[in-house]
Amino acid sequence: MDRKRLVILGSTGSVGRQTLDIVRAFPDAFDVVGLCAGKNLDLFKDQVDEFNPRYINTVASLGIHNGASQIPAEEIASLPEVDIVMGATVGCAGMGPALAAIDAGKTLALANKEVIVMAGEVLVRRASESGATILPVDSEPSAIWQCLEGEETPPAKFIITASGGAFRDRTWESLHDVTPAEALKHPTWTMGAKITVDSASLMNKAFEVIETRWLFDIPYEQIDVLIHRQSIIHSMVEFVDGTVKAHLGPTDMRHPIQYALFYPARYENPTLPRFDPVKTGSLTFEAMDPSLYPCFELTLDYAKRGGTWSAVLAGADEAAVSLFLDGRIRFTEIPDVVASTLAAHSPIMEHSIEDAIQAAAWATEHTLAQHSAGATI
Ligand SMILES: NC(=O)c1ccc[n+]([C@@H]2O[C@H](COP(=O)([O-])OP(=O)(O)OC[C@H]3O[C@@H](n4cnc5c(N)ncnc54)[C@H](OP(=O)(O)O)[C@@H]3O)[C@@H](O)[C@H]2O)c1
Repeated sequence: MDRKRLVILGSTGSVGRQTLDIVRAFPDAFDVVGLCAGKNLDLFKDQVDEFNPRYINTVASLGIHNGASQIPAEEIASLPEVDIVMGATVGCAGMGPALAAIDAGKTLALANKEVIVMAGEVLVRRASESGATILPVDSEPSAIWQCLEGEETPPAKFIITASGGAFRDRTWESLHDVTPAEALKHPTWTMGAKITVDSASLMNKAFEVIETRWLFDIPYEQIDVLIHRQSIIHSMVEFVDGTVKAHLGPTDMRHPIQYALFYPARYENPTLPRFDPVKTGSLTFEAMDPSLYPCFELTLDYAKRGGTWSAVLAGADEAAVSLFLDGRIRFTEIPDVVASTLAAHSPIMEHSIEDAIQAAAWATEHTLAQHSAGATI
């Protein structure tokens, strides 16, 4: 096995920590060249002490630690010696280093879906110009990717599964008083706070549809979403002859992370859970009615319009989720808050990456500014 020189963006987060679990399970397979994170300096220092990266970056000031140099995350992601970058930052902040990795022609294993939501079309074009490869890490696009391996004919349809999130058995109207703690209880996955709230509102599912549209260059009309409560089937691909391939597995992100890190090879990892069909029992599927999920419907409506709309969705949602977690808006206000920012936006249809970055930053600031004053609820 060739030793891969790895950078992890967002190493202190849920995906970042699970990426380091894979590194731990294969001590001879990786050289951790760089680690980047936000503000969790206690955990970050432990990671630096354990994995000895030569380069580090944090949002909160750390300085030199364990001999590692603090340099910009963009520089770390594009260092000539780096083979693969794991993009596991949350939100729009991940764009800079992800773009630097793409422009430097790296292999980018991308969990940070907001980056694709912001500017999927431009990023995919930039990757084809630089020779970079973007590998899916999110479990649904990873499942589609694995179903497509070895196939020569274009797929007829992708079917993305959705657990339904924390409030799957409740109507939208009944969610008026739900607390952040309730929204943070995902029924099947353990993840960071933003994606867990996005899963409860189904915003995350709309983001996955956008991610899938750009990563696989397939029109929105060929992507379906259905409710699958057990989250065992991560997605399906239907082919022109009617054959459907489904990707099954435990709800453990280390599986798609390991697949992306070693692609195309597969290695045995005894630390990962195995799928037991008998214990799982039955699998159920329900049609998803988009009109029951205002975030899902709103997001895809605007994403399909193209231009900078999608970047505004990413920026506005990031702000709306933080306002909800801070107790400044209700859970059921998230779609209204995002819609109000969309209504104030003047889109650029033929847009550059800079336009997308500016649109997302404007949307975040605009959304926060509307709710900065006043009491918490
Ligand atoms: N968790 C999952 O199972 C899962 C599954 C599929 C896709 N994803 C996607 O993967 C991404 C990460 O999700 P997550 O659940 O791992 O999130 P998370 O647990 O909240 O971790 C986010 C990471 O980003 C860092 N970060 C936050 N703000 C930053 C900033 N301004 N600059 C630099 N770094 C910053 C955090 O650093 P500190 O903690 O040090 O502040 C942390 O390392 C998201 O886009 C999510 O949608 C996650």
